Amino acid sequence: MNNHSTDISNVLVIGAGGAGLRAAIEAKISGLSVSILGKRLKNDSHTSLAAGGINAAIGNLDKEDNWKYHFADTYLEGYCLGDQYAIEIMAKESPKRVLEIDSWGANFEKLSNGDLDQRFFGAHRYRRTCYSGDFTGQSILNALLKKINQLNIPIYDSQYVTELLIKDSSCFGAVSINNLTAERTIHLADAVIICTGGHTRIWKKSSSRKLENTGDGFYLALNAGCILRDMEMVQFHPTGMLYPTELEGSLVTEAVRGEGGKLFNVNGERFMVNYDKERLEISSRDKIALANYTEIIEGRGTPNGGVYLDISHKNKEFIIKKIPRIYKQFLEHQMLDISQSPMEVAPTAHYSMGGIDVTPFEHQTCIKGLFAAGEVAGGLHGANRLGGNSLAEILVFGKRAGKSASEYSKNLTNHIRSQKAIHNAHENLNQLIKKGNEQSLNLQNQLRDIMWKYCGVVKDKERLIKGIEKLEELKAMTQNVDVRLSDFNNQDLVNILDLRASLLSAEATLLSSLERRESRGAHHRKDFPTISDKYNCNFKVFLENKKFKIQKSKMETLKNYLSEIVGKVDHNNDVRGKLLE
Ligand code: FUM
Repeated sequence: MNNHSTDISNVLVIGAGGAGLRAAIEAKISGLSVSILGKRLKNDSHTSLAAGGINAAIGNLDKEDNWKYHFADTYLEGYCLGDQYAIEIMAKESPKRVLEIDSWGANFEKLSNGDLDQRFFGAHRYRRTCYSGDFTGQSILNALLKKINQLNIPIYDSQYVTELLIKDSSCFGAVSINNLTAERTIHLADAVIICTGGHTRIWKKSSSRKLENTGDGFYLALNAGCILRDMEMVQFHPTGMLYPTELEGSLVTEAVRGEGGKLFNVNGERFMVNYDKERLEISSRDKIALANYTEIIEGRGTPNGGVYLDISHKNKEFIIKKIPRIYKQFLEHQMLDISQSPMEVAPTAHYSMGGIDVTPFEHQTCIKGLFAAGEVAGGLHGANRLGGNSLAEILVFGKRAGKSASEYSKNLTNHIRSQKAIHNAHENLNQLIKKGNEQSLNLQNQLRDIMWKYCGVVKDKERLIKGIEKLEELKAMTQNVDVRLSDFNNQDLVNILDLRASLLSAEATLLSSLERRESRGAHHRKDFPTISDKYNCNFKVFLENKKFKIQKSKMETLKNYLSEIVGKVDHNNDVRGKLLE
């Protein structure tokens, strides 16, 4: 059972999405050997789904814009819960990363003078979002893959990482199985970077695809001894598709609204007037998701249980140029021409704003030699992420994590290894392979229902406690899952790995959601409908003897010059201004 091959590199990157690729490029450029492991095929990571754009305060259209406004918007819209240092870095460095990736072939939309075009995205005061139609993530991915090829960096795809190798609180590699053959590889490395994305596929309606975003990185990190922060902060995108069933929850990009799309309820009312009369459809995601949810729940929804999103007042050529993927998606799957008729949309689980607790500059975890970047890392978005900041995040902090991991590797004097850790990792895998009466996929579907019902757009104590009880039942059933390996099927093993990661991530989210007895950003508590000073804190969770512990950590006050920047901002008369008083 314990046969394996061995791969050795200075820097091991787990995850072949944008953050992972950008990290690997940095490590390679600094002269080190790098291996990248991807769970999916190499050109098909979740980054390919990112649609509407990437933020950089370069002020091509709105000259007043600069990093300070980007900082203020991100910090305030995150209800002051985000890490001020990380936000400052992102706001300052994203212009360079955006221009760099464009020069590597991302080929963003240009103005007639050759500068990058920028569109409005929700809750940004200026047009700040650079884009390629509505396939910006794919453009970025293509450019990164081109660079990876030029640098001859190997990507091993169909690799599922099952465990990180740890000795004395230092990480020295990871164990993976090949998804298709179950062959095992021990990857020995000086430094490891986790870039595995989030956990939003564990909600019934999700903008993620099957077999992705199942919280794998959270599982690896928790079991390695890391801390997760802000796990209650899960972003629901206001506009997901309603049907067909296999596409339920698929993203309808914010670019539709950024380019002029309007929301209506079944009575034809442009209801955003009642929720944010200044910004309407380009309000923040937490507000629009809650507005859509409220319209639906209060009986003003469409026949299929959504609200209408209409861009048919724009001409067809404009629509095909600006949002070609959405145009095609509705035509192909609903036979709906959106230049003629409105779409029906509803909230969908979209993004894990919490994640692994890392230092803002280096993106280092509390385990030596272990780094994290992208959606799997927490800290940047606070209680509400601005659309377009995640693509900025993967490039800015992918590069930074790659650099920090390289420096760590270069300074390492003693190469840590442990046969015992490798043996244990094999045994942990072996124990999963046994006959039983339950099927992982069935339990995974039950989990998705539980998270949607008890930990959805709006939560309360009763629902959360029920969710935790249901989760305990599922955990017990998981002991009895049937996992068989054969020459032609390894899917049972992959499914149980997904399930155990999903269950642990779900528990972290439910527990943190229960602790935060207020409503802030994406965390809406029906029983505590307002924001409270008592919760100007981050919740951090970790495992002790396999049980969750939760700690409250007080938010740092803003550095003087950042508070001056934010102080100049018009607070839109809402609770965020109050938070700063
Ligand atoms: O709606 C969108 O295009 C999503 C963008 C994002 O989540 O950053």
